[in-house]
Amino acid sequence: MSERKKVTLSVLYERMAAGPLLTMVTCYDYPMAYLQEQAGIDIVLVGDSLGMTILGFDSTLPVTMEDMIRHAQAVRRGTPSAWLVGDMPYMSYQASDESAVRNAGRFMAEAGCDAIKLEGGREMASRVRAISAAGIPVMGHLGLTPQSAASLGGFRLQGKSAARAKKIVDDAAALEEAGVVATLLELIPDRVCALITERSGVPIISLGCGPAAHGQLLIFHDMFGLYPKFTPKMAKQFGNAGQLIADGLRQYVAEVQGKVFPEPERYFGMKDEEYAELARMLKSEK
Ligand code: KIV
Repeated sequence: MSERKKVTLSVLYERMAAGPLLTMVTCYDYPMAYLQEQAGIDIVLVGDSLGMTILGFDSTLPVTMEDMIRHAQAVRRGTPSAWLVGDMPYMSYQASDESAVRNAGRFMAEAGCDAIKLEGGREMASRVRAISAAGIPVMGHLGLTPQSAASLGGFRLQGKSAARAKKIVDDAAALEEAGVVATLLELIPDRVCALITERSGVPIISLGCGPAAHGQLLIFHDMFGLYPKFTPKMAKQFGNAGQLIADGLRQYVAEVQGKVFPEPERYFGMKDEEYAELARMLKSEK
């Protein structure tokens, strides 16, 4: 299916040092993963944002490990080459190191992921150490961490004051010290992202934090007009698949009701003699 070379951790580190910048996109199903494979996306994140984009919840909190594994398996089938990251859902790692290792292991064993991602700073250092010690690469996630939106004051810019920014800079260092292989920064000021990137020994990916990072992430559904509730400022739309599909569905309704669809080339006939025989058989049963 694909001629691409597998994106490995070494590839990410080569690109961090020498470019080109890394591309990362969320993905939740086979057909979109197939398209991302063809487009050469480096890092594919099966995000727990699927709770909102796919399942229609208002937050990521109701997402389960079963949801994540099922979707990650489908995505892996569509993109064999990307560096595939499974997002640890709410309460799959917060309770203990042991539960974190067990659930992280499921992403690797059952879905063929290359790494897992978890949210949080220095308070997650012990989880990062435990999962890394099990041989599983961990991506950190700082700034706006949606699973903690309630305690962060909602989905809003983080690290605006010097003191809050300093905490994020220190958290990035603590995660690196604990063993993360990459860190995602979400919705913090561009200069704070630049500072963290300069100091970092691991690739930094930005979601809404400006251009200084080693790579960029966007949520697939925001990129293509597929999330009806809102489009955040940080999301650039690269096409409007949502509009295309809505127009197509309206046309389908019109064609069915106007007896345009199905056209003769889309269904199958029966030979006259077989049809006559069928009619005869039915008649003789009466
Ligand atoms: O679930 C997700 O898609 C994420 C992004 C918001 C970074 O964690």
